[in-house]
Amino acid sequence: MSPFPLGRPARLAVLASGRGSNLEALLRAFPPEDPLGRVVLVISDRREALALQKAVQSGVEAEYVPWPKGEGGRARFEEVAGQLLCERRIDLVLLAGFMRILSPQFVGQWAGRILNIHPSLLPAFPGLHAQRQALQAGVRETGCTVHFVDAGVDTGPIVLQRRVPVLPGDTEETLSARILAQEHLAYPEAVRRVLRGEARP
Ligand code: GRF
Repeated sequence: MSPFPLGRPARLAVLASGRGSNLEALLRAFPPEDPLGRVVLVISDRREALALQKAVQSGVEAEYVPWPKGEGGRARFEEVAGQLLCERRIDLVLLAGFMRILSPQFVGQWAGRILNIHPSLLPAFPGLHAQRQALQAGVRETGCTVHFVDAGVDTGPIVLQRRVPVLPGDTEETLSARILAQEHLAYPEAVRRVLRGEARP
C-alpha cells in the first residue's frame, strides 16, 4: 500500500555517509516552498560527512547518529535513526551515498517509503565499486538507478534509470563523474514520480 500522493508537501529525510552531492541536488530540486515536498532532516553515520555540513548550510536539521562497531551496532543506529524519522514525521527516506546495510526489519517498516540511488543500471553491478565493475566487464553503456529499497542489497523495484556511454580511455574517475551528473537529475525526478503516486513498488 503506497501512501502517495499525500495531498500535502512530503517531509523528506536523506541518509548520507559522505560528500553529499546527491543531497545537494535534492535540496536544490525541493526548495522549502515546493508543494510536493521538502528535505527536513539529514542523518549521517559519519560525524565528518560533508553531507551534514551541506544540510546545515541549507538550514536543514543535520543529525549525526553513530553506528557503533561490533554486534548490536546496527540495531543501535536503527533505534536512534528510526526514532528521529518518526519524531520528525518523515514520509519518505532517501538513501544517498549511505554506505551501510539496513536490516530487513528496518527496511520492512519503511516499505514503499524508502529509496536508494546506485551508480549502475541495476540489476547489473550491485554492491561496491559499481563503476569499476562496469569497466572491468567491458560494457559499452552503464548509468544509474533509483529504486525502492527491499531486504536485498541494491535490489528492489526500479523507479527510473538514466544511461551513459562508457567511452574509450575511461577511468573509474571519468566514468563516475559522467554517471554522477545523471544521478543528480535522476534522484529528484524519481522522488517526484514517487510523491505523485506515479511509481509504486
Ligand atoms: C553516488 O555515486 C551514489 O550513487 C552512491 O554513492 C555515491 C554518493 O555520492 N550510492 P554523493 O555523496 O551523493 O556525492
